[in-house]
Amino acid sequence: MVMMDKIKSLAEMIENSKMTVVLTGAGMSTESGLRDFRSKNGWWNRINPLELATVDKMYSNYKLFHEFYSFRMKDLKKYRPHRGYEIISRWEKLGLIYSVVTQNVDGFHIEAGNKRAYELHGNLCDVRCMDCGNHETAASFIDGKSCVKCGDRLRPGVVLFGESLSGEAWNSALGDIKKAELVIVIGTSLQVYPAAELPRLTKGQKVYINRDVAECNGNFDLVIEGSAMEILIETDKILKKHSLT
Ligand code: OAD
Ligand code: ZN
Repeated sequence: MVMMDKIKSLAEMIENSKMTVVLTGAGMSTESGLRDFRSKNGWWNRINPLELATVDKMYSNYKLFHEFYSFRMKDLKKYRPHRGYEIISRWEKLGLIYSVVTQNVDGFHIEAGNKRAYELHGNLCDVRCMDCGNHETAASFIDGKSCVKCGDRLRPGVVLFGESLSGEAWNSALGDIKKAELVIVIGTSLQVYPAAELPRLTKGQKVYINRDVAECNGNFDLVIEGSAMEILIETDKILKKHSLT
């Protein structure tokens, strides 16, 4: 199938599904300007995550840990959710999709206006104290300040390697995925568990959108190779023609 035919199929699947869930990864944000993790320019191709994104390293090498996460917090402020995010937000308002499950920590789905967006890996700027859990601002973390309540060090609200996901986000995601008639997976390498498990847990149809589909394992009903933002824009145009959006 050529690309436009695949996009037409996707639009039809969305029109016919009564419960659609979108699952996103870092590839959803590269067109906003952020790096992903495992592509050529991805973070984990420049730095070994086991050197700084683990619970052990947070305690044993706080200097490097702090440098990395404060860089990412400052960097994030330069970027905004792109048009693809706006489309996903509008689709939720219109009832074309039910919810978004994301592995991203940039908060872009919520910033774009999605109400049901489950952030499986937390939110970078949701800073808290390592010890007492007191919430502080991203600016306090970036400035290297300590917790105002207990004096311990601050950390970002991301799930580190070695930590479990927020039960609430996971349960919401799993509940929706199980009920879904359609799951649209956008811009993730599906290499990190348990998020990678989610597409296998739906009884619905599954679509995989990625600019590089070489490693897609083939369990998808539809695979579309290309830019996340462009595919969303083109799909939205078709839905608009059918005056669904
Ligand atoms: P990865 O970097 O592993 O995968 C991103 C995927 O998106 C790759 O398969 C790219 O080919 C694809 N991609 C990149 N840009 C794209 C674009 N513009 N359009 C379409 N596809 C594009 O990122 P994740 O799968 O999200 O954990 O990684 C999962 C987790 O690993 C992350 O949440 C992060 C990391 O450790 C935490 O931050 C806790
Ligand atoms: Zn504290």
